[in-house]
Amino acid sequence: MKTIFSGIQPSGTLTIGNYLGAMQQFVQLQDDYQCYFCIVDEHAVTVPQDRLKLRNNIRSLAALYLASGIDPKKSTLFIQSEVPAHTQLGWMLQSISYIGELERMTQFKDKATGKETVSSGLLTYPSLMAADILLYKTDIVPVGDDQKQHLELTRNLAQRFNHKFNDIFTLPEIRIPKVGARIMSLQDPTKKMSKSDEHEKGFISMLDEPKKIEKKIKSAVTDSDGIVEFDKENKPGVTNLLTIYSSCTGESVESLELKYKDKGYGEFKQGVANAVIDVLKPIQDKYDALIDSQELDDILDQGTEKATITANKTVAKAKKAMGLGRVI
Ligand code: TYM
Repeated sequence: MKTIFSGIQPSGTLTIGNYLGAMQQFVQLQDDYQCYFCIVDEHAVTVPQDRLKLRNNIRSLAALYLASGIDPKKSTLFIQSEVPAHTQLGWMLQSISYIGELERMTQFKDKATGKETVSSGLLTYPSLMAADILLYKTDIVPVGDDQKQHLELTRNLAQRFNHKFNDIFTLPEIRIPKVGARIMSLQDPTKKMSKSDEHEKGFISMLDEPKKIEKKIKSAVTDSDGIVEFDKENKPGVTNLLTIYSSCTGESVESLELKYKDKGYGEFKQGVANAVIDVLKPIQDKYDALIDSQELDDILDQGTEKATITANKTVAKAKKAMGLGRVI
């Protein structure tokens, strides 16, 4: 059986973008693959975090994974900082990463631009991400469009290590959904929807109440020509809403265009809001039942235990390949 690994940062409540670009595919994939899903809290601290908020976000993300349909009988769900092998291999991969290639990462440039101080962790973030993936002999990494460059670097680092030391790493393939790989901000549809956006109206959080979802979608930026048509370049707002609608319902964009052919944006937006609420409401109900439960802790404990066994084996091989420690 092939192996899947993916991670999400607990840097705020997940958006509908995280759900449609990543989480939704995770749930579908767990029937056919051996899956590892991670809460990458060590990645989150590469930018400043409030410790209490971070703790809450970690737990909340775990509950959201499960409420969205991640089944602990099929998948391993765990917290990155509870499996020390991630930072151990991360360090080894940092040691073969070049500063130049790390500086070229667009996510680094986006997050570093305009900041007075930037942590070195933000620069070496992709080496840790490569470690996450390579520890589990991952074949496929399901992610949104924005992670492409990090995946390419992961493959390069795996190849470099295999070539320099010993052939121990599997080269992972990326898997991006056909629709929903890049959900845009509702207020500026030329920008990616992000959970760390300062403007609350720009994103729909997975825990937003139905009324709030409706309000945000109704105030989403569109255009003045009143035609519901998919056209990324000239109609980015409507195109984004069509993408959200289609990803939530599974209905094709063409069929949605037809459905709203002679109708105004008001009716269209109501349709989008209903589609989003229909997807999120059952998840929110399950979330409420899970968030304070002992079951959640038990699942995370089991996940840590299972992930640690596999990850430690890879670290031992990588240490041996690099010549670290003593002969055992
Ligand atoms: P993060 O936490 O930013 O996002 C989690 C997942 O959601 C996807 N995503 C989106 N998809 C569609 N539209 C959007 N607007 C949108 N915003 C985010 C992301 O592509 C991602 O799949 N570096 C990763 C976390 C990570 C990781 C890993 C991922 C750490 N280690 C190993 C895969 C494998 C990140 O920042 O994701």
